This record gives sequence, C-alpha cells and structure tokens, in this order.
Amino acid sequence: MKRTWKSISVLLVVMLVTALMAACSDSSGGSSKVSVGIVLPTKDEPRWVQDEQRFKDALSDSKYTTEILFSQGSSAKEKENVETLLNKGIEVLIITPHDGAAAASAVEAAKKEGVTVISYDRLITNTDAVDYYVTFDSVAVGAAQGQYLIDNSEGKDVPLYLYAGASSDNNAFLFFEGAWSVLQPKISDGTFKIANSSEAEKLKDKAELTRDEMGKILGQVTTNWDPNEAKNKAQTHLTAAGADLKGDVAVLAPNDGTARSIADVFGTDGDISSFLVTGQDAEKASIQYVIDGKQSMTVFKDVRTLVKDAMGIAVEILDGKTPETTGAYDNGNKEVKAKQTDVIVVDQENVKKELIDSEYYEASEFTGL
Ligand code: BGC
Repeated sequence: MKRTWKSISVLLVVMLVTALMAACSDSSGGSSKVSVGIVLPTKDEPRWVQDEQRFKDALSDSKYTTEILFSQGSSAKEKENVETLLNKGIEVLIITPHDGAAAASAVEAAKKEGVTVISYDRLITNTDAVDYYVTFDSVAVGAAQGQYLIDNSEGKDVPLYLYAGASSDNNAFLFFEGAWSVLQPKISDGTFKIANSSEAEKLKDKAELTRDEMGKILGQVTTNWDPNEAKNKAQTHLTAAGADLKGDVAVLAPNDGTARSIADVFGTDGDISSFLVTGQDAEKASIQYVIDGKQSMTVFKDVRTLVKDAMGIAVEILDGKTPETTGAYDNGNKEVKAKQTDVIVVDQENVKKELIDSEYYEASEFTGL
C-alpha cells in the first residue's frame, strides 16, 4: 500500500511538472510570450557581446519582453533561432545576419507570421522581407580607415597591405568601398604601392569599383572576420614579400579582431621597421592595443545609439505608430528604410576623451592611460 501511494505521488509530481512546462512553452501568449526577438551573429567576437550587453542595459526598464539568441556563425542555427522566437509569439525581430543573403529565408518565415523585421548593423540582401535597417555609416568607417593611413604615412611607395571582412557580409563591401574611395587616388599617384593583391593592382586606376570587382579583391584578401584567418594570411603575405615591400608599411585591417592578430604578425617581422594598422569597433582589447601603440586607430561605433534606434523602432511598431527613418539602403530587392549613425575615429590622442570621459568604458579596465 505504501508503495502504491509513493508511485501515485511521483506520478502526480511528474504530471504537475509537465503541465508547468507546457504552460511555459505556450506560444499563444502564455507566460513566456516574447514581444521582441533579437538574433545576433556570434558570441565569439567581443563586438557582438558588447551589443548584447548594451541591449540588456537598455531593456532593463522596458515594459516589453525580449529575448536574445546567438547564431554562432551558422545560418542554420540562425534560422532555428528565428523559429524559436516565432514560436514565442514575437511581433518584432531585430536581426544581424551571419550571412546577409542566406538570412533571407529566415526573415521570410518571420514575415509570413506578420512580424516586423529590423536588420541590425548588417543588411539582409535580396529579399522583400526586411522592413527597417539600423546601421552605422559603414562607407564612412572604411573612408576613415583609409584616410588615417594617408594622413599618417610619410614619403612615396609605401607598401600597402589590404585586408577585408567576409564576402557574405554586405558591410565588408561598404567598408572596402569607403577605404578604396580615398586610397585609390593615393595608389594612383605613387604614395602607396599595393603589397598583397594582384586583383587590386589590376584595378588600381579605377576610382569606383563595381561589386564584382570588389568581390575579386575580397576573394584574395578576405579575413572572413576571423582573427586566425587574418593571422595566417598576414604570415603568408609577409613570407612572400620582398625587401621592397617591407620597411615602413601601412595596413588596412577591417576590424579590431583582425587588426590585433595582423598587428601581432607584423610586429614580429624583423624587416618591418614600422607599421600603421587600422581597425573598428573600439573593442576593449584594441583600446589597450591603441594605448600601447600596437594598433594605430579604431573606429568607435557607439553601440548604445544603434540599440536605442533599433528598440525605438520596435517600440513604435508595438505601439502601433510609424517609425521615423532618415534614409534608405538598396538590398538588391527593395529600398529598405534606414536609420544611420555617425562614427568617431579614435587613436592615442583622443582615446581617453572619447571612450573614458564619455563613460563608454571605465579607466580601470585599461593600463597606461
Ligand atoms: C560589423 C563590424 C564587425 C564585423 C565582424 C560587421 O558587419 O559592422 O562591427 O566587426 O561585422 O563581426
């Protein structure tokens, strides 16, 4: 008899837990209903962990519920994340695609459910299923990197090493376009000589490149946004380079993660007397590199503003209003209404003012300030 009671109570507990779990995963508006779903590309890069933190800070007093998922560099995982959020009843999806074209099917699924889609930082291409785009001025990021190399190089025939982001990311093209717009005239007039791309060399007299032409250069100098790939490429390039491509050199590195690993490689080559190297994102590790003189500059993209703009649009939608935008981006299928934010160039001169005095980071997070 005692045993029977025990079995019955175990059964009751199991039934209760099952019922509770069912209530929690109720997609029709139960306790776990999420209003805004946020999908970010990877936790492996500090840039996106930074965005996650800034979203959390901004959301702490929001009346709407949100959930943030990471796709870990996989379009399949990204699609799965979107489906998970759709099952939780989201009305707005904020998404940074891992691969801008491959993400189309995920957002099309969201659109079918009547969800408003906001492309965050990276544009989703070749689909109608994107409603808004919040972004930094990515062409200006590339132009600032190129201009920094121009302003800080001396003499003629300075070897110029080019690196770029992943071809699956529309931003990689925008950054390169911006950089090329200022560097090309300086390659043409002999200030710089291209050190590591025969495709760029072929196109050096062309002021404006088509996407296909940029694609050819990216094909040779892409880092895929991967610091390891950047390191390997830099090593290969320096091994192949003759004495005329060493000495005082300039390096266009697309972001901070790749800049640090490229800087580490250039810093250990005995035939490189000095190098300038660009970056972007103001990652903490790169701020330390800038302070230490190991990375020349970074482009500070204030993620707080991007988060504010994305959540601002989301809340307007949830409140039944029409969000204001400031421009539009062509994604290959439509003109996507966009809100764009400016960027700030940071080097040793202004690092304290822009990142510490502005309270973006704390002084105690760095040494030698
Ligand atoms: C972002 C950069 C980032 C890069 C790699 C780009 O789309 O705009 O801030 O460094 O992706 O994740």
